[in-house]
Amino acid sequence: MKEEDLLQALKDNPFLLAPMAGITDRVFRNFMRKQGAGILTSELISANGLLYNSEKTKNLMRFYESERPIGIQIFGEDQEALVNAAQHVEQLGADFVDINLGCPVKKVVKKGAGSAMLREPDKLRRICREIKAKIEIPLTIKIRTGWDQQSRNALDIVQLAYDEGVTWVAIHGRTRSQAYTGQADWDYIAGIKANSPLPIIGNGDVTSAEIAVTRKQESGCDGIMIGRGCLKNPWIFQQSLKRLKGQDFEPLAYDYLPLFEYLRETAEADMDERVQCLLFRKLANWFSAGLPGSGEFRRQIFAARGFAETYDTIRSYYENVHPGLRKDTSHEAFLMGGHG
Ligand SMILES: Cc1cc2nc3c(=O)[nH]c(=O)nc-3n(C[C@H](O)[C@H](O)[C@H](O)COP(=O)(O)O)c2cc1C
Repeated sequence: MKEEDLLQALKDNPFLLAPMAGITDRVFRNFMRKQGAGILTSELISANGLLYNSEKTKNLMRFYESERPIGIQIFGEDQEALVNAAQHVEQLGADFVDINLGCPVKKVVKKGAGSAMLREPDKLRRICREIKAKIEIPLTIKIRTGWDQQSRNALDIVQLAYDEGVTWVAIHGRTRSQAYTGQADWDYIAGIKANSPLPIIGNGDVTSAEIAVTRKQESGCDGIMIGRGCLKNPWIFQQSLKRLKGQDFEPLAYDYLPLFEYLRETAEADMDERVQCLLFRKLANWFSAGLPGSGEFRRQIFAARGFAETYDTIRSYYENVHPGLRKDTSHEAFLMGGHG
């Protein structure tokens, strides 16, 4: 995809799905697109792993045509491996390549990949330059605010990204040291945006359409990336877009059954029964956060055997639950670990 087309897609729908390893596979991404998500990105793919061409990695990189615009995210510490990986992404027909520069996980950073590369801007500059020289599709990066509070250098990274022809920078508003604790620092993100020559995508702790639109308007960011928020509220993207356009976004039917029905059709065609069960249990559990009887429901779905029983349990719960009674659970700790 050409850069101008990708940027137009960002303007059309500035609410992007954040990459989440183990969650945002193609079935999930396609499902969220159907629920209104803008630009999609795959979970992180190891550039070194790609050299071994494993089936698992190849499968992680597949996507549906309906996902476009779709980027594939790569990570690594070795320039040559990253350049190869970016070329591979282009050959697969993805719309853009994203580099993960936010992963805080020890195993990744101790080799110098993920957020550790924020501490090596010269190396990062060379990598971006080499990749840009070898691919035609846009290159984007996803960073944290810095390694730790004393060394927050997002603006330097944005500047080097601009120099090297990167299309945008997505910023998770925490340092590597913070991991997932505290709050994403949106004042810092706004400061970067105000001084950035590049489009900036803000990310972190967006749990409702109100927050998404307020963050966009207050920070001036070109896009808002939403991860965990859509796991409790799958309508968050379409609600955010409507709210941004000043359209009525409430009341929403909160009708869960058609969601599960659509998911079942796409999952059945792509996954074996075991994986499908895992997916449905996870999602049905997350979607029920704050709903009446969700504790008992959770116990039931995890006790259900096989897909048919899992699906029946989901159906009978969501058929009877009253979404209007949902309690806000956004203050509760939720998935406090990940790769970005
Ligand atoms: C389970 C999980 C897995 C994640 N995997 C990735 C990943 O593969 N690549 C990445 O850039 N970020 C990853 N992240 C970070 C998210 O993209 C996002 O930056 C972070 O969750 C903050 O946004 P949120 O508060 O909207 O969830 C992951 C986060 C979680 C919770």
